[in-house]
Amino acid sequence: MPSDQTLTLADLDQWSYEGTALAVLGHPIKHSLSPAMHNAALSVMAGRDPRFARWQYFKFDVDPADLPLALERFRAKGFLGLNLTVPHKVLAFSQVHDVDSAAQPIGAINTLVAGEKEWRGFNTDGHGLAAGILEDLRLPLAGADIVLLGAGGAARGAAVECLQRGCRSLWIANRTAANLEALLKDLKPLAGGSLLRGFAPTQPPGDLPSQALVINTTSAGLHENDAVPIDLSALPKPSAVYDAIYNPPRTKLLLQAETLGIPNANGLSMLVHQGAQALALWTKSEVPVDAMRSAARLALGR
Ligand code: ATR
Repeated sequence: MPSDQTLTLADLDQWSYEGTALAVLGHPIKHSLSPAMHNAALSVMAGRDPRFARWQYFKFDVDPADLPLALERFRAKGFLGLNLTVPHKVLAFSQVHDVDSAAQPIGAINTLVAGEKEWRGFNTDGHGLAAGILEDLRLPLAGADIVLLGAGGAARGAAVECLQRGCRSLWIANRTAANLEALLKDLKPLAGGSLLRGFAPTQPPGDLPSQALVINTTSAGLHENDAVPIDLSALPKPSAVYDAIYNPPRTKLLLQAETLGIPNANGLSMLVHQGAQALALWTKSEVPVDAMRSAARLALGR
């Protein structure tokens, strides 16, 4: 079974792979970079340790309505682990009983590990974000002043990570006030010693700190005609800008950061590091992150 082929639940009926199978489930899934990243890493790992010689990572297009059935069937067919992507991360959270405590406040899981009887759910996106920002921009989230753009699912994961890592302040900007308020209400109990504030992107508050790290988790920038989610020139000069979007590689937000002389990076490093942590959970071994990064770049044609 070639691992670059998009499979469906029907392919599980006569599933005969004899090695250790992993898979990503999504809808759509065709353009996922995960199989390329994970299979590249597994091939390096197999060269170091014969235990990994027959491990392979597949991709499955699964309709959201079929997720409960899918979770049962992948378990029954002996898959060791799954990644979940859009739209399954939130749905799976309520369908998997054994969820890692760090993922509880996020309300979404992206990695499942086969336990004795059932799946165990984790969320590696936050680790991916923190490790990606550290790698590309040399900035730790701990102690940072952070301006987070967005109040959707991706923003929730990022905000929880920033607070759990002890950022100094978290300023969340979102287009729709009601969504912002709902997120702030949920985050309040997690804030600890961090200052937590919200604002409208068109009205940055006067007391925003300079040298803040700006993180974009909105989907503004995915499409060519999207406007920037915030005008960076209206903020006190940020220390850096990280855009969770990696395709296209240079969003308008990153181009504006470039023009203003602000260090910036796209979300490819986040993708790579969330994948690396998932693979570490499955293999319980050191993961060749460089191989994953190269494979992701190659698959993107960069
Ligand atoms: P995801 O799971 O990727 O976070 P989501 O939960 O649908 O997706 O959230 C999308 C986020 O991007 C929201 O914060 C949304 O803002 P609204 O709450 O105002 O809808 C934001 N967003 C999407 N398109 C945007 C645009 N063109 N400009 C600014 N923000 C946008």
